Amino acid sequence: MTKSIVTLLLVCAFASAGAANPTLTIEAGQPVANVSPMLYGLMTEEINHSYDGGLYGELVQNRAFLDNPNAPVHWSVVTDKSSAATMTLDPSQPLNDALPVSLRVEVSEASKRHPAGIANDGYWGIPVRPAARYHASFYAKAAPGFSGSVIVSIQADDGGKVYARGEVSGLTQDWKPYEVTLETGKAKPTAKTRYVLTLDQPGKVWFALVSLFPPTWQDQPNGFRPDLLQMLVDLKPKFLRFPGGNYLEGDTVATRFDWKKTIGPLSQRSGHPCPWGYRSTDGMGLLEFLRWCEDMGAEPVLAVYAGYSLGGKHVNPGPDLEPYVQDALDEIEYVTGPVTTKWGAQRAKDGHPEPFPMHYVEIGNEDWFDRSGSYDERFAQFSDAIKAKYSQLKCISTVGTEQPETLRVHSRQPDMLDEHYYRPARTFLNDSAHFDNYNRKGPEIFVGEWAAYETSFPPWNGRSAKELPTADMTAALGDATWMTAMERNSDLVKMQCYAPLFVNVNPGARQWRPDFIGYDTLHCYGSPSYYAFKMFSRNVGDEILKASLDGAALHYSVTKDSQRGAILIKLVNPQAAPQPLELDCKGVTGLKPTGTATTLAAAPDANNTIDHPNNVAPVTTKVSGVKPVFVYTLPADSVTVLQLDVQ
Ligand code: AHR
Repeated sequence: MTKSIVTLLLVCAFASAGAANPTLTIEAGQPVANVSPMLYGLMTEEINHSYDGGLYGELVQNRAFLDNPNAPVHWSVVTDKSSAATMTLDPSQPLNDALPVSLRVEVSEASKRHPAGIANDGYWGIPVRPAARYHASFYAKAAPGFSGSVIVSIQADDGGKVYARGEVSGLTQDWKPYEVTLETGKAKPTAKTRYVLTLDQPGKVWFALVSLFPPTWQDQPNGFRPDLLQMLVDLKPKFLRFPGGNYLEGDTVATRFDWKKTIGPLSQRSGHPCPWGYRSTDGMGLLEFLRWCEDMGAEPVLAVYAGYSLGGKHVNPGPDLEPYVQDALDEIEYVTGPVTTKWGAQRAKDGHPEPFPMHYVEIGNEDWFDRSGSYDERFAQFSDAIKAKYSQLKCISTVGTEQPETLRVHSRQPDMLDEHYYRPARTFLNDSAHFDNYNRKGPEIFVGEWAAYETSFPPWNGRSAKELPTADMTAALGDATWMTAMERNSDLVKMQCYAPLFVNVNPGARQWRPDFIGYDTLHCYGSPSYYAFKMFSRNVGDEILKASLDGAALHYSVTKDSQRGAILIKLVNPQAAPQPLELDCKGVTGLKPTGTATTLAAAPDANNTIDHPNNVAPVTTKVSGVKPVFVYTLPADSVTVLQLDVQ
């Protein structure tokens, strides 16, 4: 926090009532509705290397050699002046049908002092930290005559230093799995590294599914990167919408998120091309998404493939669609069914006997792109089948009221509509009454993707590639305004989530901006929008209080938190000057004289980056002089959550 902000906050705390300030009148005794307990959640899909090279712990890129059919991309040959080797993709020696190619390494010259083999460059390097344990594994088989060892190591990218080392021997002529633990010593954190497998004598060895995991969240196998998961846990999200987004749909029907191919042992997961331009390993499969929900204490909002893919093809409603409907029913059974059901038993076999709690299923994603008009019938077919078996589940239509009437679902009444808003920050500021006049008799609203952008062009414009991966304070002000709009209307807007969630900031990793959380191989940071969201999602309250604002271009939402015994006032001041605001709390007794203010304030163009992660971050201070009527001055360009405690 800069010195000027500290000074400003002190000034704010001591400002007093009197002059004709704008007023926020709060009817503390008049709750108008309950705040939706599910309001704040997260949305995720494979984009910007969110999982592979992101949350999913795997460190080896192209571990199954399927990323490119013509070359073992991300792999190179390791030799020195006294050793020689070649590597070749070998479809004639597959591990199995799911992983139909292996890497043949032929070492013609090598010794213990001069081993030769292969190296992987990882996802922009392999993260090395001191005293860290890594789980290395691979499948291998050798041609007759090889009796040496495979030396496994994490090295500097020029081979000049070995950070961790292990050895595997006893290879046979049949495929067998091998594993070894590697441990670093006093190393300085670095990502200028590579992962190396070498042979200490000449021979021919085939490798398949070469994997390396660092320490993961709670040491779970096939687990998650701890720093990223911690950033999400800190948001206290109530749900996770997955697996997309476009990632659910795929470019074609064949490359959709085909959940049955994403469960079970990794050796049975082929992965598939992701619509964002790279191949997904599917290491992050359905059960991993569910475990991720569990780790955050959040509920899945499961999006099921509904027969439309991004290339524009749809599956005709009726008999053609039936297998996809059955897939969705099976998927719901995998998530929620007891172990006595077929798919519940499969989940137990996969390591999770307990079913997951789930209340919402989304049918497709952005089906307004399907200009054939088939969504209405497709939705009906899915929703009828789901409701027949799971009457308690709410079915979400992906076409909301922001889309033309003709594209919406009419033949059924969806329980909820998913609306997406990627808008200039200015639009959010001008539209904070957006939901105020929505029809309360209509379906509930899920704002399943939203984000403000500060650029003069939208995220999908190619010029976005030149901008920072995360948006600046201008966007955060728009985002916070939008959140006040949703929270004030959360009798109707039951759930909302920013998108996209993650971006790997390394060159070439990104397809979309702005994003919530950025990271490289070793570090991560939150955007100003992340912090605005955190301030809201950790201060939700349970009742929306009646409030009205008079005389200022501010945005607000006021709730009561019965558990904390507090009034929570969220305020956005998008103006370039501080704004004194009279707070008139009617119908309140026992206000404590001291409250707290959590403030996110920064110049509009201020941003966080991987090198400067804390330029813009919230600060919590004491507020004294709290009375039923008092003045609080909001800093320029700020988001504030005031907590007024009641005795
Ligand atoms: O969030 C990025 C993309 O925006 C999502 O995949 C898609 O649903 C939307 O168009």
